[in-house]
Amino acid sequence: MRLIALVLAAVAAGSLAYAFSNVRKGYEPRQPIAFSHRRMAGPPVMQVNAQGQEVNVGGFGIACVYCHTMPYKGRHSTLPSTAVCMNCHSNVGLDKEWVLKMKDYWDRGEPIPWVKVHDLADFVYFDHSAHLNAKDASGHPKLPVTDEAGQPMPACQTCHGKVQEMEIVSVQQNFNMQWCLDCHRKPEMQAPTDCITCHR
Ligand code: HEC
Ligand code: HEC
Ligand code: HEC
Ligand code: HEC
Ligand code: HEC
Repeated sequence: MRLIALVLAAVAAGSLAYAFSNVRKGYEPRQPIAFSHRRMAGPPVMQVNAQGQEVNVGGFGIACVYCHTMPYKGRHSTLPSTAVCMNCHSNVGLDKEWVLKMKDYWDRGEPIPWVKVHDLADFVYFDHSAHLNAKDASGHPKLPVTDEAGQPMPACQTCHGKVQEMEIVSVQQNFNMQWCLDCHRKPEMQAPTDCITCHR
């Protein structure tokens, strides 16, 4: 009887957590600075403007890990500090409204209050590095590093989608137990499926 009550309570708490969770597909919070991944991390697209000059209307192709330094080393990926942005923006884009707003935070010594996009419930254990460093028997990464067309893609894309094409980052999957398990159960992944893997 007590066991059933416990399981029911866990399920009720879980559904409640899910109803309010930030890990549902489509969640797309607004950010304090209009930071565009398409512009920073996307591929360049050159166009000739009215003055006949060649300008880049696409992106600057900055690698994901230039700004998110931890995903291959630890559980969490990290957001860049404003110092990383200021590496370039101490002299680039100072005619742009959002760049100036970012510089205001920097000058005041305040971090930019980025709004968290992904946030799993605390009773779930997730580790970026375990995924990104996982290799099969022949030493190839288990998570795909090329797209359907065979072109190189960031390993992040399997879970986060094409962030390099997004103006605003949004959650691309329902990050629920089913989604985790669907991948863990694939024979080529050889990933653990016992409860303690993700609930410890
Ligand atoms: C120039 C720095 C920079 C680069 C390059 C960059 N990002 Fe980001 N990323 C940020 C910042 C700043 C935020 C927080 C603001 C936001 O969510 O847009 C962020 C947010 C995110 C988030 C959401 C984090 C959360 O709160 O859950 C994900 C996922 C992400 N980036 C993935 C990527 C991927 C994948 C790439 C490469 C294709 C990439 N980023 C390249 C700076 C960068
Ligand atoms: C490697 C250099 C580099 C880094 C690092 C970098 N940026 Fe940029 N950023 C640029 C360039 C180049 C532009 C384009 C400036 C222009 O169009 O005049 C730009 C443009 C922008 C714009 C203006 C977009 C527009 O068109 O209005 C914003 C906002 C911005 N960056 C925010 C950030 C933030 C926030 C970070 C840190 C998370 C960051 N950048 C890191 C190079 C960089
Ligand atoms: C196997 C799926 C998976 C892959 C691959 C993956 N992520 Fe994540 N990412 C997640 C999950 C799940 C969360 C939410 C973690 C949490 O809330 O505890 C997350 C959260 C984040 C966050 C928010 C900070 C944090 O750690 O909570 C950032 C930033 C991020 N990921 C960037 C990246 C980047 C950059 C890559 C590639 C180098 C990447 N991720 C690859 C699943 C993944
Ligand atoms: C795209 C496939 C994929 C998805 C999606 C995925 N995983 Fe994994 N997971 C793996 C692989 C592959 C491994 C590593 C297996 C190995 O050790 O080689 C792994 C390992 C793990 C580990 C073990 C870490 C350790 O200590 O060894 C945890 C915990 C984990 N995943 C949690 C999650 C959670 C939670 C989610 C959903 C939010 C998730 N995973 C989604 C493929 C995936
Ligand atoms: C690969 C990772 C993974 C494994 C293995 C796993 N879970 Fe989960 N579990 C999750 C995630 C992620 C959530 C959070 C779902 C959400 O927030 O919607 C969750 C949620 C739950 C919940 C809350 C209710 C719900 O469905 O949202 C319960 C209860 C639960 N898990 C029990 C278990 C049991 C029992 C096992 C072993 C048979 C297990 N889990 C194995 C990832 C995992």
